[in-house]
Amino acid sequence: MWFQIDVGLSKVVLEAAQACGISMVDFSPDIRQADPRFGDFQANGVLPYAKLHRLNPRYVAEQIVEKLRSMGDFSEKIEVNVAGPGFINFKLSGGFLAEWLNLYKSENDYRSAIAQDWSGKRIVIDYSSPNTAKQMHVGHLRSMNIGDSIYRILKFCGADIIRDNHIGDWGTQFGILIMIIKKKGLHTSDLSLEEIESLYQQGSALVKENEDFLAIARNELVKLQNGDSENLEIWEMINKISQAAFDEIYAEMGVSFDHTFGESFYRDQVHRIYQELTEKHIAKVDNGALCVFHEEHEQFSEQPFIVRKADGASNYATTDLATVLYRTETLHADELIYVTDGRQRDHFQQLFLTIQKWYTAFGRKCPAMQHVWFGTILGEDGKAIKTRSGTPIKLKELLNEAKTRAKEIVDEKSKDLSNPERQHVANVLGIDSIKYADLLPNRTGDYVFSWEKMLSFDGNTAAYLLYAIARIKSILRKCNCGMANITADCLETEPERNLVRKLTYFPIILSQAAKELQPHYICTYLFELTGEYSVFYNTNRVLGERANITSRRLTIILRTLSILETGIHLLGLETLEKM
Ligand code: ARG
Repeated sequence: MWFQIDVGLSKVVLEAAQACGISMVDFSPDIRQADPRFGDFQANGVLPYAKLHRLNPRYVAEQIVEKLRSMGDFSEKIEVNVAGPGFINFKLSGGFLAEWLNLYKSENDYRSAIAQDWSGKRIVIDYSSPNTAKQMHVGHLRSMNIGDSIYRILKFCGADIIRDNHIGDWGTQFGILIMIIKKKGLHTSDLSLEEIESLYQQGSALVKENEDFLAIARNELVKLQNGDSENLEIWEMINKISQAAFDEIYAEMGVSFDHTFGESFYRDQVHRIYQELTEKHIAKVDNGALCVFHEEHEQFSEQPFIVRKADGASNYATTDLATVLYRTETLHADELIYVTDGRQRDHFQQLFLTIQKWYTAFGRKCPAMQHVWFGTILGEDGKAIKTRSGTPIKLKELLNEAKTRAKEIVDEKSKDLSNPERQHVANVLGIDSIKYADLLPNRTGDYVFSWEKMLSFDGNTAAYLLYAIARIKSILRKCNCGMANITADCLETEPERNLVRKLTYFPIILSQAAKELQPHYICTYLFELTGEYSVFYNTNRVLGERANITSRRLTIILRTLSILETGIHLLGLETLEKM
């Protein structure tokens, strides 16, 4: 029995093909999910092979199929046919599907079956990573959601993965802030993050109007960078206040990290970067700044990657280079994943090119690096979402509004629950809805934020999935039968088959989401699975049937629940017992 049926089929087809004298060098079975009208899985690999060798693809497929049919154990359980110009279709028997259901019961089973691809790989994932001295706004939502889900998926697949929140705590904002805090004679520890943010705006206006203030702000920044104790104290306090506000949001979103080193952690490590990049002629001084140009690259041969500014200060690029060094040398990472919005694509392309040259020049092993980027959240007007006054919506306010709106819906729909129960449901539903709507589209596109759509109980939403889960739980509570002994025998009805076929696709979807770092595959899958479940449940009676039918259908329901919950948790959503 195979957990990943596509992998199992692939092996068997290879075996059959080899027995037919097909060269293993250029044949790959290419197993996919099939159109349900024709089968459960299909192999597409014959066509390219036949084309390459100028053979008739249908003839090659027929040979392989004949071989498969002669393999006793296989042919009893799986019906195999040639379709179209040379596809091979597989239809799993009801007995095979039942066997699958009986064997793979829980999260642990799903996990152990796919762990082999990822174990032994150490990955650092860098996400959320807001800048301090500013409240988080709607623009900070996606990195947090997508990063958290990718972390969960890779962890689930067995990767040794470390979460690092690379906060921006060493930027030029501090010169202005220290200047204005001193000018007003304020105690930093008394300030809230809102007040710090507004002070920054006042300070920015001042330096724009008046050169003298600009000079003072610059001087305060230089003093901070040179370790002036008073400035360091103000800086530290601002970061502490910022972190406390971030932590409130993280707690609400169920997001956490293993490290929060931040940019400042690397501030003393930048000299090695300048030295090594210069020594190997990877960087050169251009207009006073130390820059890396990538001559071989169309865009970056002209566009500099500035690693030290003309005034001698380090920047975002410098700390990112130092961060890579730390992650490979100290954290021993094999792979680095960065989750930010698409506007940073140039930065990461230049960073990765620079790392490759730098690591190669020193004979170091270059880590695999991936920039997982995403599009913008749009308002109904099709532009980046904003408040009426044109400022970005604060994340705290957005989450509160989600919970308030969810409460109105839950009060209306779940009158049989007590008020505290409804409040709990509303809190979970509100946050889950925002997360789900954010994870649902392919991340590289933009999407339009719509309360109405995301909180709806129909359509591909968190509410739809959570409701299905709560309904299954209620059925299981009611039937109250000894679950321990239930098992499935041969599946009989079409809806049973369709639902279980869909269940067997879960590992394929997981692998795909992990490989492409795309959580939305899981969303689409869970939505379709719930659809199949509804058809099954509406047409197949569970209780009051013969014992073996009830037992089989309960097994199907239990597995559906387990896969739905596993999937939902991999997206970082919480589930509900009652709704
Ligand atoms: N602080 C940055 C920002 O707000 C994101 C940092 C992403 N991570 C990194 N290693 N550059 O845009």
